This record gives sequence, C-alpha cells and structure tokens, in this order.
Amino acid sequence: MHVQDRHGRPVMSLRLSITGRCNVNCIYCHKDGMTSSRGELSAADIEKLCRVASDLGVGKIRLSGGEPLIRDDIVEIVERINNIGFRDISITTNGTLLEGYSTALSEAGLDRVNVSFDTLNPETYRFITRKDYLERVKSGISSAVDVGLDPVKINMVILRGVNHHEVWDMFEFCREKGAVLQIIELLKTESCHDDAVERYHCDITPIEAELAERADQIRTRKFMQDRKKYYIDGGEIEVVRPMDNTRFCANCTRLRVTPDGKLKPCLLRNDNLVDTRDALRENDTDLLRELFFEAIRRRSPYYTP
Ligand code: 5AD
Repeated sequence: MHVQDRHGRPVMSLRLSITGRCNVNCIYCHKDGMTSSRGELSAADIEKLCRVASDLGVGKIRLSGGEPLIRDDIVEIVERINNIGFRDISITTNGTLLEGYSTALSEAGLDRVNVSFDTLNPETYRFITRKDYLERVKSGISSAVDVGLDPVKINMVILRGVNHHEVWDMFEFCREKGAVLQIIELLKTESCHDDAVERYHCDITPIEAELAERADQIRTRKFMQDRKKYYIDGGEIEVVRPMDNTRFCANCTRLRVTPDGKLKPCLLRNDNLVDTRDALRENDTDLLRELFFEAIRRRSPYYTP
C-alpha cells in the first residue's frame, strides 16, 4: 500500500539529489529545482531516509544531483539502498563518468539509468555543457547498455535553435545503441539560469505531432505524470512536457530530497521543505516518519487544472 497525499496521489517514488556539485554546466539546468543547499548527507543517512520511505510503501528510488557519480561513495550508496529492497533503483547522470562505473553500479544493485544527453554534434555539446565530454558520454551509454542496465534512457532537453532539429538523429542513435529516447520540454524554475527559458524554449507540439504520425503504437504512462510513449520502427520515444499539461502534476507520485537532507514536496517550490537533519542526527526513526508524513501533507499540485 502507498501513502496518499491530500489530493489522492500515491507516493511511490523517492528522488534524492545526493549532491549539488556537477562537472558540467548546462545552459538549461534547473538543478533539480534547488536554489540553495549546503552540505551533503552521508551514505548512512541516505540509507536511513530510504528505509523510512520503504516502510511507507515507496518502491522506487532515483538518485540525481548535481552529478551523482561525482560522489566517491556512489557505489556504497547504491549498495546500501539495494539492501533495503526496492523494486526499482535508478540514477540520472550526465554520463561523463559512467563508463568507469557501469559494472560496479550494476553489481551494487542499480536497475537502470537515465543519461542527460542532448546532441550528437560536438560543437553543440560544448555549447550546451561548456565541456568536451561528448565521446565520454557515448562510451558511458554503451557501457551501461552492455552491463545490462535496462532501460538506458537518454534525456534530451529540446532547445530551440540549438538541438530541436536533432530528434530523429538522436532517435537513430538510441535505437542503434539499444537505448530509449526521452525528449523533454524545457521547464522554467527559479533555479534556472536567467533567461535560458526565454531564449531556448521550444514548443514541442509539432515534434509530438510528427511522432504520432510515425508511431506504430502510442501509450500513456499512468503514475508517470501521464507521459506519452511512442513506438516507432522498433524504437521508443517518450515525451515529457512539464509545463504544458496539468496532468504532469495531477499524476506526480514523487517526493524529493535535497543534498542536505530536506524533504521537497515539489520540484517547482522551495518554500515548503521539511528538514530531516536533526532527526537523522538523533537517529529518531519515529520523528523521521512524522517528517515524511508532514512533507506528504504539504504535497500540492503546482499546475492546477
Ligand atoms: N527543463 C527540463 N528538463 C531539465 N533537466 C534539467 N534542467 C531542465 C530544464 N530546465 C532534465 C535533464 C536531466 C534531468 C534530471 O532533468 O534532462 O536529465
């Protein structure tokens, strides 16, 4: 059984941002909605939070950042979480360090991975990330597929005038690699770089129409923010439209954790966080449980119909 919030939404997944640090600097990054976060939870504290979540019926754990693979205890973190027993453990990574970690992470119990990867063009890659890691990311993606992380999803944020014309090339690339392409409409949050959204926001309605036209089959993913999934020529493309549809919020089943241990009821808000650090320090499981319930009470759809 899942705990439900006041809007009848079950809380099924815990998304922990385990560091604010990152080794790239993407022009569109929303930093998982965080405006400020100081310090990082230890692997032991991350485990404690995941245990409480598990007791409340949460079956899925997602680790994100910043860049989660920057933490040198990332394998230990996955191991500890895996020992609790979750249905699904995944990481969102920029892929730059993935090649060296795929095997160890998979052995530690990681089920799958999402790689932020927006372009196949080296200059565009440099423009978006300010770094030259394109080939490293490609190798990282291959290694993740090879060790059997499944699915390997490629998160492609669509940026007008930058990569919006690359969808079919990216689709081909993913299909060849055995990965799933996920195209994401740019989302504005208070943690985004100034005016990135004004400059690069791209209405992906025409892209979606093209997908629909070429699709052999279309499915809607309930409990996953009602995302659409298109099956085309033996490949898959998922579409994430955070701003467009109010269903994004209506079907949100996530609770977030900031690197410094605050429960975050909504990606788009920073005014309703619940701090767990004292409870973690005191090792007070009952209090931690209470704090989870408080955060769940504070969950409220940001976009309302
Ligand atoms: N809008 C939409 N998606 C974003 N991501 C990061 N910033 C934004 C934004 N402003 C996506 C990236 C990354 C995931 C964690 O969030 O694709 O993979």
